[in-house]
Amino acid sequence: MNSDVLTAEHVGFRYAGVPVLHDVNLRVGSGSMLALTGANGSGKSTLLHLLAGVEQPAEGSIHRRPGTRLALLPQRTSDIDALPLTVAECVQIGRFTLRRRLNRDDRASVATIMQRLDIAHLARRRLRELSGGQRQRALIAQALVQDADIYVLDEPTAALDARSRQGVQELLAERVLAGATVVIASHDPAEAALVERTIRL
Ligand SMILES: Nc1ncnc2c1ncn2[C@@H]1O[C@H](COP(=O)(O)OP(=O)(O)OP(=O)(O)O)[C@@H](O)[C@H]1O
Ligand SMILES: [Mg+2]
Repeated sequence: MNSDVLTAEHVGFRYAGVPVLHDVNLRVGSGSMLALTGANGSGKSTLLHLLAGVEQPAEGSIHRRPGTRLALLPQRTSDIDALPLTVAECVQIGRFTLRRRLNRDDRASVATIMQRLDIAHLARRRLRELSGGQRQRALIAQALVQDADIYVLDEPTAALDARSRQGVQELLAERVLAGATVVIASHDPAEAALVERTIRL
């Protein structure tokens, strides 16, 4: 049986004809974590968008195991500052569905992840009134509060201090142990070293 959750085969991508990715191949299974590293402009964010299905490859194919749920934390999140969201609302969005209202389990998950990311005391503050690292923790919480099988996180810890960074790394390791698939982009060699496999673009 094929245990891969997410695969890329011979993937190529261009922006307005300018090649960015060429013949990228990867496979990642459940309960594992993959890091993408590489210089600025090497195509990490582009590949994460392809893996998340936000963009379609020009060549090759991306395959996600049917029925899996995916949560994405993009690198560029400035659009959300246009909304007058509080931190609590920002995190709750991660549990929204069209089928029903947030229930007690959803609220418990929101409270737990806010505690873990040390943003509970900021619950009523507006996102745009936070420091860069506080804001990033709220967005990480929005991604991790989702009940997903695959977490695609673009430089989640780039703006974080050492303690917060370690907290996020512990959360990710727990998700992997629980069977999730995690793909991150990172510039931090120490962070990449925590991951079982790294792909350098
Ligand atoms: N929307 C876009 N339109 C045109 N070119 C783009 C666009 N987004 C990215 N690019 C180009 O594609 C290349 C890869 O960009 P990408 O954002 O994937 O790199 P990255 O590895 O994530 O870089 P960083 O480490 O700075 O986050 C770069 O040369 C960039 O200039
Ligand atoms: Mg990037």
